[in-house]
Order: sequence, then structure tokens, then C-alpha cells
Amino acid sequence: MTTIAPASQQPDTFAFSADNLAAAKAFVAKYPDAYQASAVLPLLDLAQRQNDGWLPRAALEYVADFLGMPPIRVFEVATFYTMLNLAPVGRHHVQVCTNISCWLRGADAVVETCRNTLGIGMGETTDDGQFTLSEVECLGACVNAPMMQINDDYYEDLDAGSTQVILATLQDGGVPKSGSQIGRKTCEPLGGLTSLTDDAKTAGKAAGIKKKPRAGKGKGA
Ligand code: FES
Repeated sequence: MTTIAPASQQPDTFAFSADNLAAAKAFVAKYPDAYQASAVLPLLDLAQRQNDGWLPRAALEYVADFLGMPPIRVFEVATFYTMLNLAPVGRHHVQVCTNISCWLRGADAVVETCRNTLGIGMGETTDDGQFTLSEVECLGACVNAPMMQINDDYYEDLDAGSTQVILATLQDGGVPKSGSQIGRKTCEPLGGLTSLTDDAKTAGKAAGIKKKPRAGKGKGA
């Protein structure tokens, strides 16, 4: 369920900074006339980054006005995507995927470790404002499940131990290593490649492809 900041936390106004105004205009210019509303997501993302990671009502209305959209259309978008926050979040927004692939691969242990390490439940923020914990649906990294997203980074192939290390590193002010936590290269199989295993040179030789001499290095040059 979307959490919306109470009236007491809502600022009266919002406006893009000079840099974000220029960025917003550049996004809008990418779309044909009459389709400027397509820029709603990048503009909401800009507004959220400018406002410490959340979108007050004034920012939604500002973006609606900027794009000539009815405010309700922008509210619909903002309440649909979990990447958009309608209430303040901590400095580190920990979003744990509990969808089917992650759940089958151990998301429960990741959730439990987050709860125990941070001392908060889902949808809550630590008293020092450093961490917010959220449960999210599939974030598109199923092949390296289970995973969580913290701010802009993905942490994949998690278990309780690696989750604890990542959170402890952030608590100590460090920068944890993002990506696979078990040394997997991108999304290759766990045991390494099982096909297309030849490197380009070997594959070229096998196919009878000769390397062309570089300009000035061929015979008679
Ligand atoms: S199910 Fe977790 S990333 Fe897809």
C-alpha cells in the first residue's frame, strides 16, 4: 500500500532547480508534440531526487502543470510505481524483492536479516533516518535471485550473511560492493559458461577467419 506523507510534512510549493529545469526541458524535447506526457516518469524521478528521495503533493502538481496533464493522471502514475515515494524515506532505501523467483531462492532470509539488522519492519524508517525498509515486486533481476535494491544499486545472489555484511557496511558509512555477492559474472550460469565458450580469437581461427593487417602493418608497407 502506498504511504502518503501527512499534511504536516507536505511543503506548500515545489519548483525545479535551474539544473533540473534544463534537464526536464531536455526530456520533454525527446517526445513529439502532443506526447509530452510521456516524459512524466523521468520528470517525477528528477523531482524526487531533488527532494531527498520523495515526492510531495506540490511536486506532483508541479509536474502535472509542467506537462499540461490533469493532476490525477500524475497521481495515478506516482501511486503505481514503487520507485516513486510519496512520503519521506531514509538515506538508504532498502527495497527487498519478495516476488516468486526471489522467494523461491531465499528472500525470506533476506527480509528477516534486514528486519533484525535494522530493527524495523516493512514500511518503517530507523529513528536516525538512515534506513527505510520496503518490500517490492519483481525488479527484473530474477536470474540472480534473491536480490534487493538500495537506492540506485542492485545487490544480487544474496543470503543472510551477505545481506548482513551489506547493511553493516552502510551502517559504518562504507560503500558495499553491488551486483552479485557470490562472484557471478553478470548473469552467467553459476558454474560459468556452458556455451559460446570460445574466446573471439579461437572462434575466428576455427571459422577460418584471418585477421586483417592493420593499416601500415601489412606486407610491403
Ligand atoms: S522475482 Fe525478484 S527480481 Fe524478479
